[in-house]
Amino acid sequence: MAVLEVRTVPDPVLRQEAAPVEKPDAQLRQLLDDMVETMYALDGVGLAGNQVGVLKRVLVVDISKTRDGSEALKLINPVILEESEEGFVYREGCLSVRPEASDSETDLFADVTRPKTIKIQYMDVEGVMQEIEADSLLSQCIQHEMDHLDGVLFIDHLSSLKRGIILRRIDKVRRQKQVEQS
Ligand code: NI
Repeated sequence: MAVLEVRTVPDPVLRQEAAPVEKPDAQLRQLLDDMVETMYALDGVGLAGNQVGVLKRVLVVDISKTRDGSEALKLINPVILEESEEGFVYREGCLSVRPEASDSETDLFADVTRPKTIKIQYMDVEGVMQEIEADSLLSQCIQHEMDHLDGVLFIDHLSSLKRGIILRRIDKVRRQKQVEQS
């Protein structure tokens, strides 16, 4: 397994639409394993293909406490079948909406409201179609990652004012780091 490079804004790959996977093969399973390892290394709860520069409709999620791989979800071609009208608010952040993916110091979170429960269909790593229902945090997390596959970031759900504050903060931290290094 390997820790992959996680792309950050304004990398154009984060704004592209990922393509469906026809059939999972050994290479795709390796990619998903690497994505899980990368998610753990950066202390994230989810990671989508675009974020590691791969435009395939794949994502991994793990909101468990163990974080040893046993509870990691690997979803291929996920589609939402049903969603609740009831909303759920969660303070979201994103490894790609940071000065660097490894920068967990800079506070770049914001409240996002999404449907509280969803029913999704996806293909598992063996190529078998599956359905699951997800609630609250898991639902929120899967929806955030599914957005990535369509080139959408959590900041797109915010007002342009809040989005601007976050993006300017990222620029500022990057500039400060450059000054420190020079
Ligand atoms: Ni994200």
